[in-house]
Amino acid sequence: MCGIVGIIGTSPVAGDLVDALKRLEYRGYDSAGIATLHEGKLARRRAKGKLKALETRLNGEPLAGNLGIGHTRWATHGKPTEVNAHPHISDGVSVVHNGIIENFKSLRSDLEKDGFVFETETDTEVIAHLIARELKANKSPQEAVRDSLGSLEGAFALAVIFEGHDDLMIGARRGSPFAIGFGDEDSPGMYIGSDAIALAPFTNKVSYLEDGDWVVLTGQGATIYNEKNEEIERSISTSMAQALVVDKGNHRHFMAKEIHEQPDVISRTLSHYIDLGKECVDFSSLSIDFKTLPRLSIAACGTAYYAGVVGKYLIEQWGGLPVDIDIASEFRYREPLMSEGGAALFISQSGETADSLASLKYCKQQNQKILSIVNVNESSIARESDDVLPTLAGPEIGVASTKAFTCQLTVLAALAIHIGRQRGVIDEAKESELVRSLVEVPRLISEVLAYEEEIDRISHSLSQARDVLYLGRGMSFPIAMEGALKLKEISYIHAEAYAAGELKHGPIALIDENMPVIVVAPEDRLFDKTISNMQEVAARGGQIIFISDATRESAGCDLAHHIVIPKCHEFVTALITAIPVQLLAYYTAVHMGTDVDQPRNLAKSVTVE
Ligand code: G6P
Repeated sequence: MCGIVGIIGTSPVAGDLVDALKRLEYRGYDSAGIATLHEGKLARRRAKGKLKALETRLNGEPLAGNLGIGHTRWATHGKPTEVNAHPHISDGVSVVHNGIIENFKSLRSDLEKDGFVFETETDTEVIAHLIARELKANKSPQEAVRDSLGSLEGAFALAVIFEGHDDLMIGARRGSPFAIGFGDEDSPGMYIGSDAIALAPFTNKVSYLEDGDWVVLTGQGATIYNEKNEEIERSISTSMAQALVVDKGNHRHFMAKEIHEQPDVISRTLSHYIDLGKECVDFSSLSIDFKTLPRLSIAACGTAYYAGVVGKYLIEQWGGLPVDIDIASEFRYREPLMSEGGAALFISQSGETADSLASLKYCKQQNQKILSIVNVNESSIARESDDVLPTLAGPEIGVASTKAFTCQLTVLAALAIHIGRQRGVIDEAKESELVRSLVEVPRLISEVLAYEEEIDRISHSLSQARDVLYLGRGMSFPIAMEGALKLKEISYIHAEAYAAGELKHGPIALIDENMPVIVVAPEDRLFDKTISNMQEVAARGGQIIFISDATRESAGCDLAHHIVIPKCHEFVTALITAIPVQLLAYYTAVHMGTDVDQPRNLAKSVTVE
């Protein structure tokens, strides 16, 4: 989703702005632009499409100026055209914005009555005009921004620069993340960005605005105000983003690299939660007591939601705790009834997903204890939580989540053991057995990755399909859903997942010899049931891709392909079966020639509703 950057430097900033925007590309976008101030004058360059188009534009028409703002836009209001691309300008005020101004229609008609002429279809343009109107009333830039912020409803992170003020940038945050970077001798100046990754080439000294904060930046530093307009200090931390390698290594895509990183990052995540010597889990930092907890509510979006569904199976079966699971965008508006003394768990790679964050805030109001599983420790969801369970996946750049998902599953599995122990559902011996099964996971995933070439071959046939059906039971059902999501996200092939037992209630009508059906069927206690459903598919000519540790013969029907997975404890099957569905989606997309890492219309971090 939209990314913003800003630099007040001591040399021309256009190139650095584009470099910073490149580091935000992973968020997903469809146009980009920058604006700079040079000798008091504003100038901007914008382009539809990828940053390459903006760079080409800048090569032809370079921008001077030691101060500037930049933006990658993921279209919400108005098509992804050059005119709608940020920065927007009104009477010497230039703005970049991430988020949605919900009352933009009423603000727009009000501004139009005052004679302001709108050039774009965006919600953002009202911000530039609002500030320009305040400036016309003889206010200072600081006063103009402060008073305009009061009129805005919705979520935003924004940065504003002003003609005639070569050493001034004003930023504000409500809902969307906003990082401030403090330069040093090597990179003098001040920086702002949607996250610390954008600022990593320039500085690792980072401060984060809290909700409602706004900031006045000059080349010398930052003055931060809270929502009551009181000057306030926000701590400066050392960001790890510089140490994190954000490149593709030897891989063609970030997604491939991230799929291959899974054995390592799962090991790293496991070592955070497991005492290998004692073969037990360690959640001693948690303040929450699961023994007396009546219920756990989980809410999340996208892939994180499917991790939550696996979590429900794990926590109910092995932890003995009732779990509700919801899609966060539904949860936040259905006003769910929460148990007294209950707890809510939010799962989010970015920790910034707007619907998950809003659900969290609802649960806080309902006096629930808040727990989160996040991949970004400084994120809004982490900061709003009572207890944070980090996934140690490292930055995930591919829009389609892979390693963050399996790390979420890893944390959920370890948590299920902890809950089971606290509630007396499993004993020490069972805990050791389950811990040992988890420790095996990285090795087993490496074994699945060794089948990559075979999966690549199988994907050729999938890339010819118009529709694909995924089936699974138990924990393999959410993996089937995740597989279908991955495929449609990056290959644009229509894919659906069903609980195998639901096949007869509708989807079986779709089966014919052109329909690939991917059956996720580890040899667990539900295996025979799934096999019966698979035979119903075979009887109707469906092309079965069988993902299983069982033999081809045990399928008892014709298979188009068999993807062999290693035998494992049923506690960890979801972690193992996740890998072939990722690889199938990845190679299908590669064969189709789509933009694997930045698929059309998708955003990595969805900071608007
Ligand atoms: C977007 C991303 C998905 C992700 C979902 C939830 O849709 O493209 O990959 O699963 O948001 O994001 P979160 O950061 O909350 O896990």
